[in-house]
This record gives sequence, C-alpha cells and structure tokens, in this order.
Amino acid sequence: MSEVAVRVRAQAKLNLDLRVLAREVDGYHQLETLFARIALADDIVVRTGGSRRHLECTGAAAGPTEDNLAWRAAVAFGEWSGWPRGFTIEIEKRIPVGGGLGGGSADAAAVLRALNTMSPAPLAHSELLELAFTLGSDVPYLATDLPLALAWGRGERMLSLSGLEPRGVTLLIPPYGIATRDAFGWLSDEPESGRSTKRAPVIVAPEGLVRWDVLSRRCQNDLEPAVMHRYPELAAVLSKLRAAAGSNITLAGMTGSGSTLFAIGHDARAPDVEAPAGWRLVGTTTPASVVPPEHVM
Ligand code: C5P
Repeated sequence: MSEVAVRVRAQAKLNLDLRVLAREVDGYHQLETLFARIALADDIVVRTGGSRRHLECTGAAAGPTEDNLAWRAAVAFGEWSGWPRGFTIEIEKRIPVGGGLGGGSADAAAVLRALNTMSPAPLAHSELLELAFTLGSDVPYLATDLPLALAWGRGERMLSLSGLEPRGVTLLIPPYGIATRDAFGWLSDEPESGRSTKRAPVIVAPEGLVRWDVLSRRCQNDLEPAVMHRYPELAAVLSKLRAAAGSNITLAGMTGSGSTLFAIGHDARAPDVEAPAGWRLVGTTTPASVVPPEHVM
C-alpha cells in the first residue's frame, strides 16, 4: 500500500479560568474551565502505509515511546477503527512539557485528527471525541476545532463560544514543570487554602465569557494557591504580573496545573514582561483558529 502523509499543527491551550467543583470517588476532579486555543503549536507529520510503527521527536527530550501520548493516540485509533496497521509520527516540539499548556494532549489530539483525515473509514466526530477522552482530560477539547470553549466534568462537556477578540500573549515558562497529578494531590492535602471554590450560586453568562474586560475580573485558577504555596518564585512572578495588570496586561494567570504563567495584552502584541534568569518567554496569540490537517508528500 502506498504511503499517505498529513501535516497537522498541534496547538496548545490556556485555561483562562479553572474551578475545581468536586472530587470523584476515584480521585479525579470535576472541573469547570475556560479553554482557549493558542497559536503556539508542535508540528506533526503522520504517515501511514506498511506495517512499521515509528515515532520521532525533535526539539525536546522524548521519553519512552510507549508512554508518548501521540503514540498512544495512534495505537488507540488503530484499535478502535482497525486501521492503520503501520504509522510513522514525526513531532517537532515547541510546546514545553509539564507546563499546563496541554502539549502532550495537543499532540495526541492532532494525531487523531490527522489519522481521521487519512482513514478509509473516518470516525464520526462524536466517536473521535470519545476516543480522545480515553487519552486524557484535555484531549477532547484539543481534538475539536473550537478556539474557545467552557468545559465541565473532566473536560468532556463543552460549550462552544465565539467572538472573543484575539490578543497577544506572553508565556512565562520556568525551567521546571509541574505534574498535573501532583497539583491535584496538593489540593486534597490542603482543602482550605487549595480549594477556593465556595458553594455559592453563580450565573455564568456566555456573553461575559467572550469579553476580556469581564474575564479580567472573573478568571481564577483553583489550583493556584496550592501550587504557589510550593513555588514561591512562581508566586512572586505572578503577583508582579498582576500588579502590572491595567498598564499593559489585561489578564495574568497560571494555566492548568502550571508551571507556565501567562500575560494577556490589550491588543494583538504580546506584552513586554520580565522573567527570572533561566525562564523562557514565548510570544503567541489567543484564541487561535484551528489549522486543518494538510496532505503532504
Ligand atoms: O487527565 P490527565 O491524564 O492529564 O490527568 C493526570 C492526573 O491529574 C490524573 O491521573 C489525576 O490524578 C489528576 N486529575 C484530576 N482531575 C482532573 C484531571 C486530572 O484529579 N479533572
């Protein structure tokens, strides 16, 4: 069988807002989160044909192949749909690992989208999202083409939102990541300081979720207190960003379970910010539109 190849951009996400609503019996947490896609992306080429299975990763240290979420996505797609037998995945990493930007999940979601584009019997979109959900909480959102969505549950229920003006974003990336599992674990260690959600009725108006002025007042991250408690350096940088809010920053926060912090500007330019030595600054935009997979040679 001849080889077919598709190039796909695996865009990362920000959690502009993240509330922890409850802890399930199996330890997972029910969330409410506002996902925004950003332009920062890993570049992936997926090839099918033959029976060989291979993963190549440049730009970041790759762990064991079997643990790689993009690899697991391709294997899961094959098991679900009976196709493909062989595949090659080439990933050029730009999204930091363990940064709360959904890098691994974005790669997995992109591989699912690429395979579904090439498949002789593509899955229905709802099936693709179901498959995505077996790979992790962020994968269903990243497998959609939604620039912005409010999600609940473990992230599998989504309200598509549109109309939020694109803004420049500066990502502040420390030289260390934070494992999602650890951050959620710290929450239950310190329920008082870690869970800021109070059981109070609230009306979430969709029209407010597409206005930066409303978001800048509303957004919070319930994982923040527990993470900041353990990483005073992150806390210091974040409070400096927040002190600058109003001047050149509309909204500053931590995405997911960290360690990446973000600063959103007043216009399409990424705001000028300072970061400690050893941190990386990356300029990008949000919300970003999905780039559809394209066939390549
Ligand atoms: O979904 P993902 O595989 O990224 O989650 C990693 C870990 O983070 C889970 O095993 C769980 O310990 C924790 N988690 C959680 N509640 C969520 C998402 C993740 O407790 N909604």
